[in-house]
Amino acid sequence: MKGIILAGGTGTRLYPLTKVTNKHLLPIGKEPMIYHCIKQFVSADITSVLIVTSKEHMGDVVNLLGSGKDFGCDLTYKVQETAGGIAHALYLAKDFSNGEKIAVILGDNVFEYSIKPYKDNFLKQNNGARVLLKEVGDPERYGIAALDEQHILEIEEKPCNPKTNFAVVGMYFYDNKVFEIIKNLKPSKRGELEITSVNNAYIELNQLEYDIVKGRWTDAGTFESMIEANEILFSNNNEILK
Ligand code: G1P
Repeated sequence: MKGIILAGGTGTRLYPLTKVTNKHLLPIGKEPMIYHCIKQFVSADITSVLIVTSKEHMGDVVNLLGSGKDFGCDLTYKVQETAGGIAHALYLAKDFSNGEKIAVILGDNVFEYSIKPYKDNFLKQNNGARVLLKEVGDPERYGIAALDEQHILEIEEKPCNPKTNFAVVGMYFYDNKVFEIIKNLKPSKRGELEITSVNNAYIELNQLEYDIVKGRWTDAGTFESMIEANEILFSNNNEILK
């Protein structure tokens, strides 16, 4: 399985911290944010990893991370020229994935525990996709899942009237038909190719499974959530719990 870190975007919600640098290079605990994603993949034995980021920040990202040998992985880089949404960025990983299953992490997501159990569950699936859910207090900010006892029925991106508190967090597992699905997506009202549309396409196919995230999780895309991300990683000395 190959790993993909999506580390583009303009980071407008963190302005002016992101005026001259990329959000994923900002510190969380004692390390740059992006270290956490790499360490998560390595903790799950995913050691072939692609990083997608913008042209402006690629130089700094490569200077920071190099070949990946310090982390025990092999890093590849791809430039995202225009910001067209998460699914648009993911499409850039088509050739890199080379027909294999993929694990995708949004570069600002922080998990207290290793993602390895979820990867192992996905490997037991013959095909399809797997997402991770976490109950949150501010569901309007996320993709939100409506559930029955076994399945996700529907995901709504940033709903005004959320049906549940279960956020779909920024860690996704896909089989290789994800690229065919993205190719056929239509942009959302805000003009982006949404990752939520990709996940809803797998629901249509009856091929979307899920796990509930163990321990603490947050993204670090706002000032408030960045504080939470700092608390999670600082309390564990930037180590990922098993
Ligand atoms: C993105 C996704 C959303 C997901 C969230 C998790 O939102 O669109 O579905 O719940 O990441 O971090 P963004 O943070 O880019 O607004």
